[in-house]
Amino acid sequence: MNGESPASRRERLVNDDRRCLWHPFTQSAEWLSYEPLIIEKAEGPFLIDVDGRRYLDGVSSLWCNVHGHGHPRIVAAMHEQLDRLQHSTLLGLSHAPAIELAARLVELAPPSLTRVFFSDSGSTSVEVALRMAFQYWRQCGKPERSRFVTLAEAYHGDTLGSVSLGFSEPFHSGYETITFRVHKFEPPFLCHPLNGRGACDGEDFERAAQESLERLEHFLQRDGDTVAAVVIEPLVQGAAGIWPQPPSFLRGVRELCDRFGCLLVCDEVATGFGRTGTLLAIEQGGIAPDILCLAKGLTAGYLPVAATLATETVFEAFSGRYGEYKTLFHGHTYGGNPLGCAAALANLDVFEHENTLERSRRAAATLRGLLDQHIAPLAHVGPPRQQGLMVGFDLWKDFDRGLRFAADERCAHRATLAARERGVFLRPLGDTMVLMPPLTLSDELLEVLVTTAAAAVRSVTGA
Ligand SMILES: Cc1ncc(COP(=O)(O)O)c(C=O)c1O
Repeated sequence: MNGESPASRRERLVNDDRRCLWHPFTQSAEWLSYEPLIIEKAEGPFLIDVDGRRYLDGVSSLWCNVHGHGHPRIVAAMHEQLDRLQHSTLLGLSHAPAIELAARLVELAPPSLTRVFFSDSGSTSVEVALRMAFQYWRQCGKPERSRFVTLAEAYHGDTLGSVSLGFSEPFHSGYETITFRVHKFEPPFLCHPLNGRGACDGEDFERAAQESLERLEHFLQRDGDTVAAVVIEPLVQGAAGIWPQPPSFLRGVRELCDRFGCLLVCDEVATGFGRTGTLLAIEQGGIAPDILCLAKGLTAGYLPVAATLATETVFEAFSGRYGEYKTLFHGHTYGGNPLGCAAALANLDVFEHENTLERSRRAAATLRGLLDQHIAPLAHVGPPRQQGLMVGFDLWKDFDRGLRFAADERCAHRATLAARERGVFLRPLGDTMVLMPPLTLSDELLEVLVTTAAAAVRSVTGA
């Protein structure tokens, strides 16, 4: 590179990063206090930095990588598409990769979901869902159905509509005037008698799910006819801290939406594409939402394509003469990008040809054993929560007394820096440690992941 030595290139990149880059969800003052890790390339489950050091990608590049990096089948499909068409709009035009992907998604989704709207991120897939649900009721002559109901601590993205759904006091206070209010109800995890400290299985957890449903029912009995949609992350609330729900909860929410006539939106941006042990998490509850949001793993984590699927009933409500203005006036320049759609089609092929779901279930069973052995016994750690290949466990100053570490201690953050020194990249959620490996990580690397996380936690908690 212009005769530049690796050391001076590294220095230039570090300096320019610190001078010019604004990193997402990152406190810039803190960012400057440690050496940035600059990734040059990736191979399978490893990220490789500019100095050639390898790091196990323990959170699948923010939960989107499915089969590891550089899968030859997906890369070849992208190359092929690259030579043919890099981008062309879906506004007033169509192209084969989007058509083929839409047909494929309709095939794999519950039969009632027949229409696919493409965008380019998880957040935009949720914005589209909000627009569909809100406008649907206006066009059905029920404009009073304009409110949304979500789970407490929900996260649906960072555009302002999705921020409204996931409004969080510490992150968003001050944003009240440019967001809309939603009704929130406590998910099973928070209804557990140990309120955020309980294990997510057994009878107590089922009872917690019933209590959560009663809270939703209570609200809908009073205000149900003003509700456009109930929006949930099905089976696992990811960014809240990997909070699972029993499948009975999904069935309960679907029944309540039917009883009170509201739409159900399932945001599978994090849970979709094998993360929870089935291709879609809703399969485990045997339910079909009215609107389904997909992103992250849709392209195996290679390119930004998202999809919002809707029923024919919802779609039909938008049909009419142009002058009736029933159109969904929404669209993103790169929505349904052909390269991304080609990657997504190849991703689905890999699921079929490599038996990915079955292998991911075996990996999840191995992971459970490793968590029991290495994480559960640690002092300052609560019971690990796992659904498929999504894992979270909380760090506690004093678990029995329910005492958290102070936010400024940055306990889990420091643990992830300690893991990085040991060759594993992790990213926490507050004081929740998150493990989210690619779906077919080998047993040996699962062990490296868990034992490194355990060592990192011990190094910061002193236990
Ligand atoms: C459930 C859920 N919905 C939406 C999003 C937002 O996705 P994106 O970051 O692609 O906008 C996320 C991201 O983590 C998510 O977990």
